[in-house]
Amino acid sequence: MNLYKYVSESINNKLGFTANLETPRNRAFGDFSTNAAMVMAKSAGKNPRELAGEILPKLKELDFIADASVAGPGFINIKLKDDFIWKAAGKPHDCKTDAPLVIDMDYGSYNVAKSLHIGHLRTSIVGDTLNRIAKYLGHKTISYNHMGDWGRSMGLVIAWIKRNHPDWPFFQSNFDKNADYSKYAMPVEELDTYYPSAAALAKTDEAFMEEARIITAELQRGHPGYNALYNVFLPISLKSMMETVKRLNIMPFDRNLGEKNAAQYIEPVEKMLRQKNLLVKSDGAEVIIVKKDTDTAPMPPVMFYNSRGAVPYDATDIMALYYRKITDNPDKIIYLTDIRQKLHFEQLFRVAEITGLFPPENLEHIGYGTINGADGKPFKTRDGNAAGLNDIIEMINTAVQKRVSESGKDLPQETVDSIALAALKFNDLMHDLRSDYIFDPDSVTSFEGRTGPYILYTAVRLNSVLKRAGDIADVSTVNLSSDERNLLIEVLDFERTVQTAFDNRATDMIANYAYDLCQLANTFYHNCPILRDDVDDATRAQRVQITRIARDTLATAIDLMGLKIPDEM
Ligand code: ARG
Repeated sequence: MNLYKYVSESINNKLGFTANLETPRNRAFGDFSTNAAMVMAKSAGKNPRELAGEILPKLKELDFIADASVAGPGFINIKLKDDFIWKAAGKPHDCKTDAPLVIDMDYGSYNVAKSLHIGHLRTSIVGDTLNRIAKYLGHKTISYNHMGDWGRSMGLVIAWIKRNHPDWPFFQSNFDKNADYSKYAMPVEELDTYYPSAAALAKTDEAFMEEARIITAELQRGHPGYNALYNVFLPISLKSMMETVKRLNIMPFDRNLGEKNAAQYIEPVEKMLRQKNLLVKSDGAEVIIVKKDTDTAPMPPVMFYNSRGAVPYDATDIMALYYRKITDNPDKIIYLTDIRQKLHFEQLFRVAEITGLFPPENLEHIGYGTINGADGKPFKTRDGNAAGLNDIIEMINTAVQKRVSESGKDLPQETVDSIALAALKFNDLMHDLRSDYIFDPDSVTSFEGRTGPYILYTAVRLNSVLKRAGDIADVSTVNLSSDERNLLIEVLDFERTVQTAFDNRATDMIANYAYDLCQLANTFYHNCPILRDDVDDATRAQRVQITRIARDTLATAIDLMGLKIPDEM
């Protein structure tokens, strides 16, 4: 049950008035409080405290209210009946929407022949959680790893290979496209060095840059040698991407289809643009003007063909929109990238609007902030390089292993891995995704405080109580202590949290909810003995049930974050 919604609507219906329901930090005086009397006082021409007194008996008529009292200048504190809380908390959560949407989700979106780095962490983790939440709410999602697999970087990589192996068959005029070229496959570690080397060279060597531009255009036009070479390294890169996806425990993408796939739709898209007279010649390139008279900020044109006739990033995104329209016809497309791509998506959404592909309200770009090191600058590894995703995962694993050994424990590797994963992912999720945050591998692995390991530790603790408790006895009469009711009321705030987290695209709400739930579960655990000999049967049954209810909700939240609960910790 969405407790907040239920209580709030019932009160408003009863009073025939819309008031705010608050959840007080200190619940000693009530589970909720309402400002109804203060809002109504004005129009009623009454003193708020006096009016509150008059409202009380009405509120007490509601069958779930145990008590209501006036506080301060006219607030009304409300205490719920134990029975009501108990019944509501015992029912499984039901957050299914009655208006399911088809949502294309574009996140991860890695680049071929470029290893994954810290910049891909948030799009992967947050994107996966947002996808899980959307599914949990009953929406149909289609996740896209919209790969960077067709642009200038491909030209640079091929130019680099050509420079180092000019004798390879891909570059000869008598190239045989039917031969087997698998023996040219290179290890991914080597492949990953090509792009940075080529990009560095292109900065100083204009002839090399020019060659890369030409190769890009020829690759796109179907040059057999370049395409055969491309097909040699594409699967190597793809395989390594999928390994990282697996390591991060993010769901496999529904579609690993990126720029190259989109580029197949160049003909119908070009035709559509020409029919609408949208392609404008500009310095040998063809562009789409997206500026509006009302713009105050610069709004550059969108490049469709560059001066060499190659299709740049902007253009492939238009074709991807077309592809998604004719295949999924989604109600919404959500893109998750670094905030620095904000302008690109503003331009793209304008093209969607002018062409009639999608109205702007169906398209959404979420731009996330940067992960910084302690110095406030983008996080680097000790050797000063932008950190690779695998390096980061290693770093966290080492930090967790160190903590585990220091505590004298000996945990299986699988457990260490899931703790490390929780440390990394939870830390990412708990921050407002639109802001930068500082990443400190040491503090995120702590077993205390707002960390992934703390969340897992609490889940393991609840599981262990349940295991030791065995069969759960029925509860005939309930009698809740404040620690018990606080925990159950938090459980009853889960549905609202998930809904709000999704509506606001605020995955941090799930992470921070999980933390609050853990805090309350641990307070309950400390103050309310469960399996101790001196606890009577009825109390024990009630507490075991509460443990189960809290565990189930926590496990769901953990699942939405894509973390795994280990057997022991
Ligand atoms: N590959 C791009 C990058 O690594 C992100 C692509 C985002 N998705 C899109 N449809 N443009 O920055």
